[in-house]
Amino acid sequence: MTPTRVCLIGAGRAGAVHAFNVRNHTADAEVLAVVDGDVERARALAAEVGGAGYATLADALAATALDAAVIATPTHTHRDLAVEAFAAGLHVLCEKPMALTAAECDAMSEAAQAAGRVLQIGFVRRFQPEFVEAKARVEAGEIGEVMMVKSLTRGPGLPPAWANDLALSNGMLAEVNSHCFDSVRWLADSEVVRVYAEVANRKGKKLGVESEGFYDNAVVSLRFANDALGAIDGVCPSEYGYDGRVEVVGTEGLISIGEVQGMPLLTALDRKRGTMRPVHKTWPERFSWGYVNEINAFVEAARGGEPSGPGGIDGKRAVEVVVAANRSWQEARPIKLAGATV
Ligand SMILES: NC(=O)c1ccc[n+]([C@@H]2O[C@H](COP(=O)([O-])OP(=O)(O)OC[C@H]3O[C@@H](n4cnc5c(N)ncnc54)[C@H](O)[C@@H]3O)[C@@H](O)[C@H]2O)c1
Repeated sequence: MTPTRVCLIGAGRAGAVHAFNVRNHTADAEVLAVVDGDVERARALAAEVGGAGYATLADALAATALDAAVIATPTHTHRDLAVEAFAAGLHVLCEKPMALTAAECDAMSEAAQAAGRVLQIGFVRRFQPEFVEAKARVEAGEIGEVMMVKSLTRGPGLPPAWANDLALSNGMLAEVNSHCFDSVRWLADSEVVRVYAEVANRKGKKLGVESEGFYDNAVVSLRFANDALGAIDGVCPSEYGYDGRVEVVGTEGLISIGEVQGMPLLTALDRKRGTMRPVHKTWPERFSWGYVNEINAFVEAARGGEPSGPGGIDGKRAVEVVVAANRSWQEARPIKLAGATV
């Protein structure tokens, strides 16, 4: 069968991960176009993964036949690019956060539906083996009813400049903790009804970040419709490495997902210096299998298989809670989600 012809949009950090995974880890897909506003960047990545580089999606569509798009551009561009891709008949894997607002998410889902195409959102944890196993065990009732889900994401280094601007990204809760918001909802199997967030800006000044509303530490409390509770924390930059862990506490047990240690290696030094265990350094390393499984699930769905990944409603729910969490710290009070009765 002919390989699925992929257009990679956004040749930055996440785009490169997806592009190399299409080239190296999919059997039925190939990159035929790389699009980036910085066309030299697009051409440089295309030279490594295949296809040609273009400055816009319209240029790529005019030049070559395509089946699917992977959108890995800044959040504020997702809606327009997805709508354009669906109008051209492409299936879309869109990176998280799905968009800036619930209304933008709706526009994307409606465009997917009108075109009859797949819309998958890049919640990579749902494809990471230990998360998949944990979800199956929770669903099998091994730990009873879920009472509490805790999720943390801490990442080294500042994200790209656009992600520090609340207006373009919704800030760290969206850029870093979107994964947490999706994980706790997925594992609690319920919708968030109330959210309370505290944030702090600990390093912005030292790092020269002047964007209004910038924060680099956050804790969030959540209540779900089924009475489960959720807790999220985020730190970015965290100097010690990349850290993504989740705990699910049930009425009859605990499931703990992930660990700080990134490699099964222990270095025992002399007694004064003690021992060293390497931590995860980066997100592509921590979730390497998740990204491979994610792109394969997308390709399979684009080729007519059953969609198995998170879709528009999952992306929208995470965006709604992020927006409410930002309102919470801005107004210094808990926020009820629309339609919640608590
Ligand atoms: N799933 C994950 O774990 C993960 C990790 C990192 C980033 N992301 C997400 O991926 C997306 C991109 O983040 P990043 O860190 O790779 O950003 P980045 O800044 O490294 O790269 C973005 C690229 O998009 C290009 N671009 C901007 N606007 C464009 C447009 N309208 N058309 C074409 N190209 C455009 C930029 O020139 C840049 O090369 C974000 O949604 C981010 O949240 C997800």
